[in-house]
Amino acid sequence: MGRFNRDEGIALKVVGIIGGPKNDGNTFRLVRAVLDGALDAGHTVVTWKLKDVYIGHLGHFAGETLPPNDDFEKMQADLESMGALVIGSPVWYGHVDTRTFNFINRTYVYNKHYSEENAEKWPKAKAVNVLTYGREDENAYDNILDWYKMIWDWYGMTESINLVAAGTGNYPVEKRPDLIKRAKDIGRNL
Ligand SMILES: Cc1cc2nc3c(=O)[nH]c(=O)nc-3n(C[C@H](O)[C@H](O)[C@H](O)COP(=O)(O)O)c2cc1C
Repeated sequence: MGRFNRDEGIALKVVGIIGGPKNDGNTFRLVRAVLDGALDAGHTVVTWKLKDVYIGHLGHFAGETLPPNDDFEKMQADLESMGALVIGSPVWYGHVDTRTFNFINRTYVYNKHYSEENAEKWPKAKAVNVLTYGREDENAYDNILDWYKMIWDWYGMTESINLVAAGTGNYPVEKRPDLIKRAKDIGRNL
């Protein structure tokens, strides 16, 4: 999951996942800032934009849950070797966007209810939960952050760090150097 770099720190693979359809929207910019900080600290960074991969839906047949044939397989080597996961989503109708929601469901193949063997392969990594949304209340979607934590705890992940951009209509991420700095600091301190 990690190797020692020259300064004796542990270099991690940091996997960034971006939900929502925008190339350089609020979510992308904030995840990107965390990853920039991680790069500064000497970590390796990989980015997956969910708009560019096809993630299917779980099926069920003859008493078994069936994973779909989709692009998730392409992501698995990165997921299984990550030391940190930075997952970013715009809020859509009160929850994470549909791509992110579907991605989370697709990780069911690592759930011990699906496969004890696969569950061993999901790393005990840190999670950074990035949420961006229009409402201006910083705590408006604490329920989503609690939901992330519940999932990461279930997967045995070691930490669940939250980063929120509220009020992106009036205060887009690109105009918030304070928030970008906070994001970079999170990345540097992974
Ligand atoms: C389909 C849709 C649903 C949305 N629902 C909400 C919502 O329930 N609450 C909210 O505060 N903002 C909502 N928004 C606003 C987005 O969360 C906000 O603009 C976000 O920062 C967009 O991120 P992006 O620039 O990465 O796409 C919604 C936007 C869209 C397109």
